[in-house]
Amino acid sequence: MALERTLSIIKPDATTRNLTGKINAKFEEAGLRIIAQKRIQLTKAQAGKFYEVHAERPFYDELCDFMASAPVVVQVLEGDGAIAKNREVMGATNPADAAPGTIRAEFAQSVGENSVHGSDAADTAAAEISYFFAGLELVG
Ligand code: CDP
Ligand code: MG
Repeated sequence: MALERTLSIIKPDATTRNLTGKINAKFEEAGLRIIAQKRIQLTKAQAGKFYEVHAERPFYDELCDFMASAPVVVQVLEGDGAIAKNREVMGATNPADAAPGTIRAEFAQSVGENSVHGSDAADTAAAEISYFFAGLELVG
């Protein structure tokens, strides 16, 4: 399998509950290497731009408010098949549907406040990584 990079975000519901370390442990146990990481506070406009693909969805405004409500930890994960592997470790969007042992099954509070974001394909991963990180910040 090819070595890939994917963009991950530990969302406000998780950073405020001090779950950054527990979530990072899940990534590392799955063989994903955290090759870049920073804690930032998004503005609503910055969150809106990031989630622009969902602009027409009914949950968009609430999602942007939530993402700007407290700090997030943005990170780049690297590993074999990292994009799909991260989605597996995250679990389904709705924690009620998330497989046991996944991050969302263990930590998410609702379909909106679901603890983590992960890129869903190679093209979105590349775009999302460059939204938050400069090339020199990625140390694989
Ligand atoms: O994050 P993921 O790729 O699993 O799901 P998405 O369909 O790309 O949706 C992005 C985010 O919008 C989710 O992670 C939720 O935080 C939020 N969302 C929501 O609040 N209500 C929904 N019905 C669907 C998604
Ligand atoms: Mg998505």
